[in-house]
Amino acid sequence: MFIESLSLTNFRSYKEETFVFSNGINILTGANAQGKTNMAEAMFYLCTGYSPRATRDKQLIKSGEDVARIVGKAKSNVGNVSVEAVLTASGEKEVKVNGAKVAKMGDIFGNINSVFFNPQELKLVQESPEDRRRFMNISLSQMSKKYFYALCRYNKILAQRNNLLKNPDRLMIKETLPVWDTQLCQEAAKIFSARNDFISRLAPVAKKIHSEISGGEVLKISPENSIKGTESEIADIMYNALADSVDKDLKLGFTNVGPHREDIKFVLNGTDVRHYGSQGQQRTVALSLKLAEVEIFKEAFGEYPVLILDDVLSELDRKRQRTLIKKVQGIQTVLTATHVESSLLRGVDHVRFNIENGKIIKRTEKVTDK
Ligand SMILES: Nc1ncnc2c1ncn2[C@@H]1O[C@H](COP(=O)(O)OP(=O)(O)O)[C@@H](O)[C@H]1O
Ligand SMILES: [Mg+2]
Repeated sequence: MFIESLSLTNFRSYKEETFVFSNGINILTGANAQGKTNMAEAMFYLCTGYSPRATRDKQLIKSGEDVARIVGKAKSNVGNVSVEAVLTASGEKEVKVNGAKVAKMGDIFGNINSVFFNPQELKLVQESPEDRRRFMNISLSQMSKKYFYALCRYNKILAQRNNLLKNPDRLMIKETLPVWDTQLCQEAAKIFSARNDFISRLAPVAKKIHSEISGGEVLKISPENSIKGTESEIADIMYNALADSVDKDLKLGFTNVGPHREDIKFVLNGTDVRHYGSQGQQRTVALSLKLAEVEIFKEAFGEYPVLILDDVLSELDRKRQRTLIKKVQGIQTVLTATHVESSLLRGVDHVRFNIENGKIIKRTEKVTDK
């Protein structure tokens, strides 16, 4: 899959600009604050409806403007697809796929698949469990709308359950909980089951990549605080776990078991990398994980997703930079950097965009003689 063009209107620092990409490596360079990350953000937004950094869509609209528009045209195994997102300052947003307005925001998923990687994601291993859950949620939502909607329903029921737990009327709570819990467990089972499957597919691929990069370290990835089994088994186990934890839940005023407490465990040569790994090891694990994610998309859809690498080169040493460039050959990649050493790209076809103040000031195509 690849994005042929991306047009931005009043998106962040861009007034009006169109990027025409190659299906290989695309490099955006420019000094700080010129609009490189803004472009990467627009691209990811079009794929998922999420911004990796904005908390509110309004921040995405160019200051002083009322409407921002992102339009992407992509090609995949199944044909051409165009996705358009329009954001207004009043908070409305509209998404069109091939010209037709989608009914639900979740329908933005699965049109253009992407894997996003930035310096924050490089910290995926040492940061909080919430970051690792977000990693799974975004990846799995792109792979399955069923997952996305289960997650939405789960979060909604969970919030209602947590509200109920704070109610002083204990008797009423104990009578009402079973109704909520049955529904909560149904959604939790779908989430746990999809994540278990995802991690079991990701683990061997990440292990192989990690071993290559690190020169033989053995990486083990497994779910933590998960429940295993068929969906109906998971729902039953979770229901009992909720019952066991009810006194604790009442005391603390929130729910202590469920997918919202899940984590991913990374073990390197017997040691938990989250807590005891060196920063270098943690970064290599994160890199291996993201590159494995790309492969899992390929397995699931028969083609690679679009890979967005925002400012990650500067965080990696030379050897890891080389590995990354080697691994992304054959995958449409959009890479941003303040500077890329030309020796890193020796023999690598690429298109380069120089960005200044929200404009492409130069586009160069470098095709290596074969
Ligand atoms: N909503 C907005 N309207 C106008 N300019 C914005 C908006 N959001 C961010 N910017 C500007 O975009 C620039 C940062 O762009 P960014 O893509 O993050 O830079 P970099 O090239 O370093 O990745 C800053 O100058 C910032 O002021
Ligand atoms: Mg940036």
